[in-house]
Amino acid sequence: MKTASPRILIADDQTDVLEALRLLLKAEGYVIESANSPQGIMAALEVRDFDAVLMDLNYTRDTTSGEEGLEIVSRIQSMDPTLPVIVMTAWGSIELAVEAMRRGARDFAQKPWENPRLLAILRTQVELGRSLRKEQRLEAENQLLRAEGRPAFIAQAPSMQPILQLISRVGPSDANVLITGEHGTGKEVVAKTLHALSERAATPMVTVNVGGLPEGVFESEMFGHVKGAFTDAKTDRVGRFDLADGGTLFLDEIANVPLNQQAKLLRVLETGELERVGSSKTHRVNVRVVSATNANVNEEVAAGRFRGDLLFRLNTIEIHLPPLRDRREDIPALATHFLGTHAGRYRKQLTGFDTAATQALLQHPWPGNVRELDHAIERAVLMAQRNTIAAVDLGIAASRESSIPSARLEDMSMEEVESFLIRKALARYGNNVSQAANALGLSRSALYRRMQRYGI
Ligand SMILES: Nc1ncnc2c1ncn2[C@@H]1O[C@H](COP(=O)(O)OP(=O)(O)OP(=O)(O)O)[C@@H](O)[C@H]1O
Ligand SMILES: [Mg+2]
Repeated sequence: MKTASPRILIADDQTDVLEALRLLLKAEGYVIESANSPQGIMAALEVRDFDAVLMDLNYTRDTTSGEEGLEIVSRIQSMDPTLPVIVMTAWGSIELAVEAMRRGARDFAQKPWENPRLLAILRTQVELGRSLRKEQRLEAENQLLRAEGRPAFIAQAPSMQPILQLISRVGPSDANVLITGEHGTGKEVVAKTLHALSERAATPMVTVNVGGLPEGVFESEMFGHVKGAFTDAKTDRVGRFDLADGGTLFLDEIANVPLNQQAKLLRVLETGELERVGSSKTHRVNVRVVSATNANVNEEVAAGRFRGDLLFRLNTIEIHLPPLRDRREDIPALATHFLGTHAGRYRKQLTGFDTAATQALLQHPWPGNVRELDHAIERAVLMAQRNTIAAVDLGIAASRESSIPSARLEDMSMEEVESFLIRKALARYGNNVSQAANALGLSRSALYRRMQRYGI
């Protein structure tokens, strides 16, 4: 993404100073707004975000105390400590500049300023300010994800960080989200997290396994029916869309919905309107749709088995969860988490895993992903005879499928090494093929060809 031009607020009560600054800074690609009084500064800051404030300290002619300016510096500092403030002082009033910095100004320039020095100061402060704000935002996002009421969602692996950020950013919105990933990678956990982060959190999330609904009941299950609509319709029935009104509807296994039912779903998603089976009365529902699938939906669309227009409605945002074998960094934390829950449930005193067990956990390929790990730990908790889990308790056989090379590099074939490196690069870049290709020095299509060859 291209970063926006930095926006600078300049403030001085002398118009010729403002004009000179404007000319200088515009030529450097900054977007400029100006204020000519302390009130003007505060008003501008309320309306917009700036990358920096460059301000004079004196606003009433003939005063040189700088008091008004210093007060503004303090106010900005308490309002937004990440916003860089650079003060301008009259030549020789170094004490004033020092006082301003004590109150939170990041730097100062003496008038008349030297252009190169002023520009250098601005550039540095804008950059520092931006990275400070980014850090703060990440911290806020992490706090959001740690907040109460959310399902446990463990994601410490580097490849999971962009996913965490995406979740915390789109969670609170009404955007439709499609979650993809292999079996047991945590798609439902993500759906619950998105719901819990949204303003709809007070209403329960309604889940439907749409892929598993038999042809005959799909419509009445989803949209409801009225009494007498068909032979078995003895009473009115409220559909899942109505149940989820005002909340979130989680459509699981979405890729398995047959084409004619996809058309019916599409209509509701497009219009927000539906009729119960057997009724001609149209009514509106307000639902946020989160859907999930372990299929490759784009392939399904290409093969004509999934409607492209429906996909377009569902995947305003797409979250792809990598398989556990590509985010092994998360295994210890997940294992400890599951140990805690199962030991609690079965009232067993267990303190952790012995070395061999940890080793086995890290090396297993986990084709069933997080769910398989969960089950393995549950079983181990029941089997354990000491207060730590031993490798035998886990019941997982050592496997050659592991993507960690168990052999030394020189013992591996060219193909094995290549496949290993490709998996690693894909994991590192959260399965972003372009970035992985870039890192490997391959073109996208060359990487795709290799992925196909190695069944990745
Ligand atoms: N990141 C995680 N942190 C903690 N628990 C997790 C995480 N991911 C998955 N789990 C747990 O693993 C199990 C499987 O997760 P979930 O049901 O969300 O997978 P899924 O992707 O929906 O699988 P499927 O495709 O088979 O429906 C659940 O018990 C869930 O709580
Ligand atoms: Mg699921």
